[in-house]
Amino acid sequence: MAINIKNTEDIERMRIAGRLAADVLDFIAPYVKPGVTTETLDTLCHDYMVDVQKTVPAPLNYAPPGYKPFPKSICTSVNHQVCHGIPGDRVLKNGDVLNIDITVIKEGFHGDTSRMFYIGSPSIQAKRLCEATYECLWLGISKVRPGASLGDIGAAIQQLAESQGYSVVKEFCGHGIGRQFHEEPQVLHYGRPGTGIRLQAGMIFTIEPMINAGRAAIRELADGWTIVTKDHSLSAQWEHTILVTETGHEVLTVSPGMPPATLVT
Ligand code: MF3
Ligand code: CO
Ligand code: CO
Repeated sequence: MAINIKNTEDIERMRIAGRLAADVLDFIAPYVKPGVTTETLDTLCHDYMVDVQKTVPAPLNYAPPGYKPFPKSICTSVNHQVCHGIPGDRVLKNGDVLNIDITVIKEGFHGDTSRMFYIGSPSIQAKRLCEATYECLWLGISKVRPGASLGDIGAAIQQLAESQGYSVVKEFCGHGIGRQFHEEPQVLHYGRPGTGIRLQAGMIFTIEPMINAGRAAIRELADGWTIVTKDHSLSAQWEHTILVTETGHEVLTVSPGMPPATLVT
């Protein structure tokens, strides 16, 4: 299976899907506070996507080979949960950090983005991890241009994370995206500069580093989806969907409420 290069019309539809995915994160932000359950956040997002945006929540019933269908419309991953947390009756409490991962489908095209949210006032260490992971994402994005290699992205992210004593989750990666939720290529968040495929204008993929405060090892919970750190250390993740342009890149999952890029130079 080859990497699908998007044409002008595909790109316009991906811009629309990307903005809609980011718009769901802006919509849900005011509801993310102590006392709310992750299931309530799921219901609010689901109804907003379906009734207001007229988008399809891509996670709902998503079932890649070897997985049972994902039962909810968003992913909510709290504290030491790395990714793919299933919304449920867990009540968010002061000091938690939460990743909300939104993927919408509009006119057949997917937009995929996630952010970290603070519940009340998390610890300095938790905030530092979330901020460092955001810098990792933007540093990775800064490498995207025609002729760069996928390894340039992964190496930059790994170097920045590890220089701060953090570790990169290796089992999950960014991905090509378009008419399919997960397309080629796999975008690793670690690696060596100059390795892997070369980027070409018209490619669209996500970058979504998962960074752990402790060791890199993870395990899957019995629900078949939720990934946690083995050592129960905190984990953070941010995600954008990125288009490779003739001159560099365009972030497709943009919205007014998105935190400003933290560019590391
Ligand atoms: N949105 C996730 C990603 O960034 C995938 C979630 S799959 C689900 O790739 F089924 F858990 F929703
Ligand atoms: Co993704
Ligand atoms: Co996602």
